[in-house]
Amino acid sequence: MSKTPFYITTPIYYPSDKLHIGHTYCTVATDTMARYKRLRGYEVMFLTGTDEHGQKIEDKAREAGVEPQAFVDAIVEGPRGVKDLWKLMDISNDRFIRTTDDYHVRAIQRIFKAMYDKGDIYKGTYSGKYCKPCESFWTESQLKDGKCPDCGREVQDAQEEAYFFRLSKYAGPIQDLLENTDFLEPRSRVNEMVNNFIKPGLEDLCVSRTSFTWGVPVDFDPGHVVYVWVDALFNYMTALGFMNDRYDDYDKFWPCDVHFVGKEIVRFHSIIWPAFCMSLGLPLPKKVYGHGWLLLDGGKMSKSRGNVVDPYVLAELFGVDALRFFLLRTFPFGADGNFSNEALINTINVDLANDLGNLVSRTTAMAEKYFGGALPAQRQEEPLDTQLTAMVKALRERYEAQMERYQFQNALEEVFRVIQRANKYIDETAPWTLGKDVAANGPRLATVLYNLLEATRVCGILLTPFMPRSMEKLFDQIGAGPDLRTWDSAARWGALPAQAAVRKGEALFPRVDLDKALAQLEEIQAQSAPKAPGAPEIEPLATESVDFDTFCKSDFRAVKVKACEAVKKSDKLLRFTLDDGTGTDRQILSGIHKWYQPEALVGKTLVAIVNLPPRKMMGLESQGMLLSAVHTVDGEEVLNLIMVDDQIPAGAKLC
Ligand code: ME8
Repeated sequence: MSKTPFYITTPIYYPSDKLHIGHTYCTVATDTMARYKRLRGYEVMFLTGTDEHGQKIEDKAREAGVEPQAFVDAIVEGPRGVKDLWKLMDISNDRFIRTTDDYHVRAIQRIFKAMYDKGDIYKGTYSGKYCKPCESFWTESQLKDGKCPDCGREVQDAQEEAYFFRLSKYAGPIQDLLENTDFLEPRSRVNEMVNNFIKPGLEDLCVSRTSFTWGVPVDFDPGHVVYVWVDALFNYMTALGFMNDRYDDYDKFWPCDVHFVGKEIVRFHSIIWPAFCMSLGLPLPKKVYGHGWLLLDGGKMSKSRGNVVDPYVLAELFGVDALRFFLLRTFPFGADGNFSNEALINTINVDLANDLGNLVSRTTAMAEKYFGGALPAQRQEEPLDTQLTAMVKALRERYEAQMERYQFQNALEEVFRVIQRANKYIDETAPWTLGKDVAANGPRLATVLYNLLEATRVCGILLTPFMPRSMEKLFDQIGAGPDLRTWDSAARWGALPAQAAVRKGEALFPRVDLDKALAQLEEIQAQSAPKAPGAPEIEPLATESVDFDTFCKSDFRAVKVKACEAVKKSDKLLRFTLDDGTGTDRQILSGIHKWYQPEALVGKTLVAIVNLPPRKMMGLESQGMLLSAVHTVDGEEVLNLIMVDDQIPAGAKLC
């Protein structure tokens, strides 16, 4: 019999910075759900990936002085990058899509054209605010105090030719989808979408840009690149082979069973994404689940808060499974939650070391001590046992009900109620007292230990999607082979053979010393915190004087950068084409590539000394010199070009 397909996705991440614990949260949740469905026998497709286009990435790459592709490659594929992190966290994704993958880029071009041919994408004019020096379009709401949010300069009203998607056309069907189906969960997010976005009126969506180039080119209109969210959302289909022949699973897995997404991108997934699908006449995804944020001190996590929210640090210090468990045990999936190191350590100590760890270590230690690891077959049941056994027998169903609603925290609560009951059962039955006379109490002692082993086994199965590695160790310790780790066997009380070979192993979850661990984290954080820059060192002032007339011979002028490019085969030189007010372009070469990307200088007003004799560098003539301010910090030379007010016309003399 063929298995039922189940398709689940995470958002694809922006590789603009390294991922933090907030990103890890969503991927761990998705992985846990994927593993749960596999455990239940579904044929799972679990997709994750990276969303690599757009102005933000282009800007970051420029800041870093590298090409956008090299920039994203380093974060996605490089050491301690996105792929490494998912490997470390035991993420079992079946596929990983990068939106710069060729097959995806070509598919997006076809998709864009298909929506255009249908008439749902049309050419119009995008009105906004334009910052000339930054060459950036902004909307009114993006401005900071009415000025460019990047450079703080005045912006002008401007218009750009752009393509639009007829989102307004789909307002009715989308509202119906949100209000009358359970497409979007939790339900609280439905009101937010309808009241904040649909009722005020859905406007058509601008789906192309001409102000930057790092995107999927619109192949039938050069100069336009596809808006990054069109490119990003369709990843869920292209990764299955939609409009490309790299893969062949679209028919099997689409429509997607659930997209897990953070709350701030619910709008894209519950309004824009179904509208795109409707436009192409494609089935809609079955569900979008908007999870909450992990907050740090009540605010959204950000890179500037330091290294302790670096999942690498936490996983290395406390273990991957402990971290995975903590994330889903502590925070209700649909709501925000406050992350803290104390809460993490506390959860490890209370739930894992104390409750689960103790249950396993006490049970296996006693099975070894009293019966050499193999229980005798004879049993003696007592009424006291039924409370525990009844709870274990009902557990799978109760857990399933919570997991099917993505309520990870509640599912774990069900399991831990049983674990706590089992620990209480140890105290009630006091097997160490029975063990004082094994000959007389053998059948009763064996019954108690067997019940504990069975409770542990069933809990272990249900915890496997959360902590896959540790549960394998647990099964090895209680002698549960592969057949006894299955979903079916979680509902079969008594499946463990009477004489299972039990052996006490190392502690599954060692206790963490809170103070010591916090001190360690503080130290790591201090080491990785950006160091305060040293004091600038200034070159001593010249002692030799220059006579006034000689100084006055130097001709300093304001010059505007018309073009600037790196000189081929030179690491240092930039070639400037300058407007010096004479009407003839002036070429100056300057060894400042280490500090500036050429594109960033176009449009700037600089200062040049223009009456130096021309000089040849790398075969090119330099007609003057640009003025810079230079100082040293921590032994490193720092250079700043002298830039003057853009109001100053080219050619103005500086004196
Ligand atoms: O949004 N707590 O990418 P992204 C919980 N490329 N979740 C968090 C979080 C936090 N502190 N910080 C981030 C994008 N996230 C797009 C997605 S999908 C077609 C395109 C979650 O890297 C965030 O909510 O900025 C989002 O769901 C995911 O990380 C990726 O964020």
